[in-house]
Amino acid sequence: KVTVAAKELKKHFVTYPDFPKKGINFWDVFALFRKREAFDLLNDMLSGYAELFQNKVDVVVGIESRGFLIGTLLANLLNCAFVPIRKKGKLPGKTKEVSYTIEYGMDVMEIQEESIKSGQQVLIIDDCLATGGTICAAFELVKKLGANVLDCVVIYNIPELDEKKDVIECVTTLCK
Ligand code: PRP
Ligand code: MG
Repeated sequence: KVTVAAKELKKHFVTYPDFPKKGINFWDVFALFRKREAFDLLNDMLSGYAELFQNKVDVVVGIESRGFLIGTLLANLLNCAFVPIRKKGKLPGKTKEVSYTIEYGMDVMEIQEESIKSGQQVLIIDDCLATGGTICAAFELVKKLGANVLDCVVIYNIPELDEKKDVIECVTTLCK
């Protein structure tokens, strides 16, 4: 189910060369939401993926901002909680933070300490992998809260940046 929907979904991919800076081929996840056909395929693909984890997940963690979209869809399919990881300064209460390198700069991300309990079962989701820095930082944050990461998953792995082989091995890419 995942593979069939993924293959069809790939036909709806839209990329923008040299955005937000020269040399970056920007993959636009929002393009999948503005066409109902693609939106349905995305749902089908995620529901196929969710079947692998039914009754095993306490929390889906989605990474700001594009990871929020698909993260809430996945949490709904798994009938579990959704928790955000956000860029620094956006979340109230006590937080854990980690700094990381992204495709186009450095950043700090945070998670609320109260959002996940030690020992909970977690899936981490984002729209795409570029260098892999973001998803690795998210993994580190979730581990800081003592939770168990069942899987990290993205829709798409941006192919140009292939210095991330170790990361790819640990991340499920739904649209290969
Ligand atoms: C983009 C994308 C991933 C990340 C991938 O997010 O949505 O989260 O970069 O890059 P990496 O693998 O090199 O770390 P971005 O930080 O641009 O923010 P956004 O999701 O809020 O647009
Ligand atoms: Mg992002």
